[in-house]
Amino acid sequence: MRPYIICHMGTSIDGRLHPSRFTRAAAGISADVLRGHYEKIHEGFEADGWIVGRKTMSEMAKGTERSIADAPKLPRQAHVGERQGRKLAVAIDPSGRAHYGKDNVGGDHVVAVLGEHVTDAYLAELREDGASYVFAGAKGDDLSRAMAQLAAVFGARKLLLEGGGRINGAFLKHRLIDEFSTLIWPAVDGVAGTQSIVDYDGPEGDRPGAGQSLRLTHCETLEGGMIWLRHAVERAPG
Ligand SMILES: NC(=O)c1ccc[n+]([C@@H]2O[C@H](COP(=O)([O-])OP(=O)(O)OC[C@H]3O[C@@H](n4cnc5c(N)ncnc54)[C@H](OP(=O)(O)O)[C@@H]3O)[C@@H](O)[C@H]2O)c1
Repeated sequence: MRPYIICHMGTSIDGRLHPSRFTRAAAGISADVLRGHYEKIHEGFEADGWIVGRKTMSEMAKGTERSIADAPKLPRQAHVGERQGRKLAVAIDPSGRAHYGKDNVGGDHVVAVLGEHVTDAYLAELREDGASYVFAGAKGDDLSRAMAQLAAVFGARKLLLEGGGRINGAFLKHRLIDEFSTLIWPAVDGVAGTQSIVDYDGPEGDRPGAGQSLRLTHCETLEGGMIWLRHAVERAPG
């Protein structure tokens, strides 16, 4: 069993990822109102937590690396830190590159999804922080196994996948997205090659969405002209 996973993202009309690059809100439209929709809908899902890629988590956590001498040899087994009933802030971080210095990001409890090759010093750092971790196989790329552990170890039933584009693409490729929740800003980025909300990092010609179809389940115009779309992902067997 794994959690139900909703990929919840905001985007410009051209599918781009960075709101800082979007055109300004039109006259009379509040940028704060537009920004507020994302968090409101995030809360409304009442999920057990959220998942981001290592790059996004590094930007959010803002910790610095500490050198822990003589770290003990630790088994590559899931570790539960000081969760205290909080929601989960999950980082997909195969090489253990994100640093926290605390047990939470934005009040939600840190769970690092790691490869077994990370150093004992990194595991010791996470333990000192009070953070939790699970393993996604030797190289940290077994996302299905990691999601199953989040369900088994932390009781996660529903999680929001919130970027960036590369980790969203990896989850799509692994058929781990059950639903998309997409907020389309009344804005455009416009530059070729800027990151999009699903940016699979794989061989040319690969189709990460192969065998999956999207069915529109909800379409709503929100205050300020933002459009909220929900799509269920329907998978062909195999
Ligand atoms: N709409 C929004 O406002 C929004 C939301 C989220 C993020 N963002 C922005 O998105 C940017 C980051 O996006 P991103 O796509 O570059 O990075 P990302 O998805 O946040 O993180 C990518 C990293 O995840 C790790 N990873 C683990 N398994 C992976 C797999 N199977 N495939 C690919 N990566 C895997 C890799 O870490 P290693 O390199 O350590 O191996 C990879 O570099 C940030 O600037 C952030 O601010 C914007």
